[in-house]
Amino acid sequence: MAVAALLAAAAAPAAAGTGGAPGVNDPYFPLAGNGGYDVQHYDLTLGYDPGTRHLDGRAVITARTTQRLNRFNLDLNGLTVTGITVDRAAASFHREGQELVVTPRNALAKGREFRATVTYAGIPQPVTDPDGSLDGWIPTDDGAFVAGEPQGAMTWFPANNHPLDKASYDFTVTVPQGRSAVANGVLLGQTTTGGRTTFRWRQSEPMAAYLATATVGTFKVEQYTTPGGLRIYNAVDPREAAAAAPVLRKLPSVLEWESGLFGPYPFRGAGAVVDHAPKVGYALETQSRPLYDRAPDLGTLVHESAHQWFGDSVSLTTWKDIWLNEGFATYAEWLYDEQHGGPSAQKTFDELYAEPADSEVWAFPPGDPGSGEHLFEAPVYSRGAMALHQLRRAVGDRTFFRILRAWATDHRDGHGTTAQFVHLAERQSGKDLGGLFHTWVGTAGKPSRP
Ligand code: TRP
Ligand code: ZN
Repeated sequence: MAVAALLAAAAAPAAAGTGGAPGVNDPYFPLAGNGGYDVQHYDLTLGYDPGTRHLDGRAVITARTTQRLNRFNLDLNGLTVTGITVDRAAASFHREGQELVVTPRNALAKGREFRATVTYAGIPQPVTDPDGSLDGWIPTDDGAFVAGEPQGAMTWFPANNHPLDKASYDFTVTVPQGRSAVANGVLLGQTTTGGRTTFRWRQSEPMAAYLATATVGTFKVEQYTTPGGLRIYNAVDPREAAAAAPVLRKLPSVLEWESGLFGPYPFRGAGAVVDHAPKVGYALETQSRPLYDRAPDLGTLVHESAHQWFGDSVSLTTWKDIWLNEGFATYAEWLYDEQHGGPSAQKTFDELYAEPADSEVWAFPPGDPGSGEHLFEAPVYSRGAMALHQLRRAVGDRTFFRILRAWATDHRDGHGTTAQFVHLAERQSGKDLGGLFHTWVGTAGKPSRP
């Protein structure tokens, strides 16, 4: 379920109709994703032993070709591939760095559905991102913290590893009895035999690979349905339970408050995974069930929850547009404060605006971080939120909240670009906002006083 035109454009190198491209032309991560096909569904069957850190996996990938293919790539980093079939026939394959190059026995015609089954095993190694942080399958003392932004999905399953290609997922994860494996969406069931427990999860709405998780640990689990009908599944490391409890209690009201502002909650399952993963240093908005490296504070809970609309349901088409995720989730925190007895968004803006001209917040434009090294820095988060606050001041509250809701509604389960957001804001307000977005999203340096 990709933006077909974009994928097709990215996948049209010289030898069209032969091999699929090794990437989708993302300027920051040129090898992320692959050309020539569009994944509909991943069916992942995993077994993990926290003691040996050994993972074995089988991925059944249902996809449709967007060009004739006699060869295509998947992204997979590390691990050992033991076999691949395409439509039940053994396929040949080789590895080139993070590219798993698959040659099916017979070429695949354009527009055809196919099923690739990859079996693999090994000890997953997280990737070190350009900013020095770890992502992917990150071992913990009792399991693994599994967070794939921006690159790490390929450390635990073969994927079309770019948010352009969203798909539904089934997970069947087996871990030693007493541990839990928590993935996205809804729990279909769990069974224990011979000292091992298998958890079956389903994420039926389209999801970008980086938002998939199968976090393993010793967790206290709570499950309930809210009066509004949300199915909550929380898994909490006992070491974090006391600190997490008062914040997690607010999850239903936070999701309801956000639904009131942004439109209906976009997914079938909800909840949180609160792990104890001191070396990770960040939380991630894993789809339907954000993943925290420690007990979150309320601001972080509001932030990761807001990503369910902005980032998860409405996905990036390029990592360069990361402010569409982080600026929006940060502004949700400002709005939450404003409407719950904290400082007004204007006050939060004013405090940031007081930063001197050489402060890191002005170091680069939110709409162009320059490389994967700067995806998660202050200009993306804080100045991205400042840009939204300026939009709000320019168009007024009624129109501003209509724009936010229209963005989440019109692009639900899909994608968006900065240009599309600007266009929507101009259409909803009837104003020319080119100058405002140029100043606040497109230009480095401290803007003059608004
Ligand atoms: N997207 C996450 C958030 O804002 C943060 C994040 C993901 C991150 N990966 C990271 C931050 C790596 C720093 C480094 O909720
Ligand atoms: Zn965020």
